[in-house]
Amino acid sequence: VTVGLVQLVGAGPGDPKLLTVRAMECLERADVVAYDELVTQAILALCPPDCERLAVGRRHRASVVSYRLHPDVLARARAGKRVVRLKAGDPLVFGRGGEEAEELAAAGIPFEIVPGVSAALGAAASAGIPLTHREHASQVTFMTGHHAADSLARSSLAPPIEGTLVLFMAAHKLGPNLKRLRDQGRAKDTPAAYVAAATTPQERVVVGTIGDLADRVGDVDPALPAVVIVGDVVSARRPPRRAP
Ligand SMILES: C[S@@+](CC[C@H](N)C(=O)[O-])C[C@H]1O[C@@H](n2cnc3c(N)ncnc32)[C@H](O)[C@@H]1O
Repeated sequence: VTVGLVQLVGAGPGDPKLLTVRAMECLERADVVAYDELVTQAILALCPPDCERLAVGRRHRASVVSYRLHPDVLARARAGKRVVRLKAGDPLVFGRGGEEAEELAAAGIPFEIVPGVSAALGAAASAGIPLTHREHASQVTFMTGHHAADSLARSSLAPPIEGTLVLFMAAHKLGPNLKRLRDQGRAKDTPAAYVAAATTPQERVVVGTIGDLADRVGDVDPALPAVVIVGDVVSARRPPRRAP
């Protein structure tokens, strides 16, 4: 039996120049590229012209389904194909790469994991916000904004998380998420930045505090993926200036 291979590849935050050399190698040799909705057109344009492209992201589906690895991905690998499962950012940071690796291991299909530049890192670099800084923060926490409302509510008796917070998937519940941080004891004037579509031509950076950021982002398209960086590090922001 020919068994193919699945490569769980991080596509980075959006700018194709932030793909790793290994990610490019995987793409160049792929028979099938199965991608999430957040993978940008600029990156999909680098897939070989004759490879099969499968849109397998959550937003591509009509309804919530229970499988972890898309059945088409498994079927192609079982048919002997080299499948690249291309994921925004890094596959192991809120990317379900862990769950997919479990399933591939259980199915006996060879797989590889190729790290990518997580949106947290892409947004920080592009906006010029350090995630750690000797004068501002020595600890960084990545969390989902989405669920943060619930998990923060459950832990409301716990002390506030120290240092820098990076909230993923925060665009739709920004107000409630920031309120939870305040309820939990973070000062209303704690600096915060909203970074949408980081490293792409649509990038938007809005800076404020956890008290006013939700109002300030009013005109940013909520459909753009965004992270929120919270903490004193935001006051150390130095937006990069490219040489003319
Ligand atoms: C399902 S998570 C995937 C995270 C990804 N694995 C990573 O390491 O960046 C999707 C979230 O990533 C963030 N994201 C992805 N690309 C982004 C970008 N270019 N700019 C800002 N946030 C982004 C947003 O918070 C979005 O809701």
